[in-house]
Amino acid sequence: MEGQDTSARGVWGSKVAFILAATGSAIGLGNIWRFPTMVSQNGGAVFVIVYILAVAFIGFTVMLAELTLGRHAQRNPVGAIEYIKPRSPWKLIGYLGIITGVCILSFYAVVAGWAAGYIFKTASGAFKGKLTAEMTTQIFSDFSSNPLLVFLFFGLIMGLTIFIISKGVKKGIENWTKILMPILFLLIVLLAVRALTLPGALKGLTFYLQPDFSKLSGTVILFAVGQAFFSLSLGMGTMITYGSYISKSDNLVSSAGWVSFADTLVALLAGLIIFPTLAFSGQPGNVGGEGLAFQIFPIILSELPGGYIFGILFFTLLTVAALTSTISLLEVPVAYLVDERNWTRKKAVLVIGVVTFIIGIPSALSTGGLEFFTKLKVLSFFALAFGNISLAVGALFICIFVGYIWGVKNALKEVASGNPRFRLRYIWTFSIMFLTPVAILFILYFIKTIAAG
Ligand code: PFF
Repeated sequence: MEGQDTSARGVWGSKVAFILAATGSAIGLGNIWRFPTMVSQNGGAVFVIVYILAVAFIGFTVMLAELTLGRHAQRNPVGAIEYIKPRSPWKLIGYLGIITGVCILSFYAVVAGWAAGYIFKTASGAFKGKLTAEMTTQIFSDFSSNPLLVFLFFGLIMGLTIFIISKGVKKGIENWTKILMPILFLLIVLLAVRALTLPGALKGLTFYLQPDFSKLSGTVILFAVGQAFFSLSLGMGTMITYGSYISKSDNLVSSAGWVSFADTLVALLAGLIIFPTLAFSGQPGNVGGEGLAFQIFPIILSELPGGYIFGILFFTLLTVAALTSTISLLEVPVAYLVDERNWTRKKAVLVIGVVTFIIGIPSALSTGGLEFFTKLKVLSFFALAFGNISLAVGALFICIFVGYIWGVKNALKEVASGNPRFRLRYIWTFSIMFLTPVAILFILYFIKTIAAG
């Protein structure tokens, strides 16, 4: 981004560039690692249905709200709120988002490190030959409980994220996504086709796509809505920050629609790979732990002609998809420090990067590395507390802020720039003012059920 050093802000090169970056933020481990795990742990197809409804009605609403707020204010989340409602406690929404972002990044980069490590595992031939689920489970547990390896790759991911973000939003983010995301998509489609033609695939598909409504519960809804926020990068100001770089002539509605659609498509495809492959390897659908995706992808890759090469490619692209998300997570606190505290970009990136790494240490040691943290399930706890609940709380306040404090009228005016005929105007108004806040309050009520369990 030219002028980065003087103005410290930038504008996306084009609408396509923004969509690529926002899609890059949305698509990541949330789709390929976390979504299948969530489906597996929360009743299969019922979760999938609630998830799709959550994306369509709640996720899309919040996405448009965040983009609109960001573009209007042209600032980071804290600054955006300050701009609209100066010297008010509403700013806390922005601070909550920043803390949430750092805490998500702390465990997210650990898992991204697993993906990076798997590039080398695959290259070393660890997944050659006929693989059973027991074998891949063992390989994962050996890997994830080895502190040296986990820290090496966790550090690598943080280092890369710091490097890319310090270059600024445009140069840093745009270029990555342009070529690599479409290749990842094609590879996922290929794997899904292979998975669907495996013997036993149907059994997995049934778990994944045939709902058993007796499994519907408050917790399932809580997890589905939380996962929608996580997967779409909502509730902590990422889309406010990305929206702040969008030009006034772009259509925010179609951008939000496209990002939500693409993100959901990739998650659904990931499920189409995982569940048939699980059934093929003789396992029930509900076995998901944090390692599920890492245990299952090697199996399907080994069933593919040229699986060795495809395996290396797959984990490389997964790492890149994760990186386009980690950089969006780091960009939120960095944009705040640059805009509001006049820090240089370099200093902000370095300080936040190091703090995040330190916060991530317990998570990194919680998959077998250290018994104390493993028993506490730190990574799973962080994923739930920050990657789910905290995002839902953030989204709730963003809705209230946009719907009532800034006001729907003003928001609609901003949407109209670039989209003068916003057809869903009434539905969106209803959703931001009533449906979404009420739905979030409803799901937050169920937290105590998990706490009790
Ligand atoms: N949406 C990312 C994923 O699904 O992998 C994770 C994420 C990125 C969550 C950015 C929140 C965020 F602000």
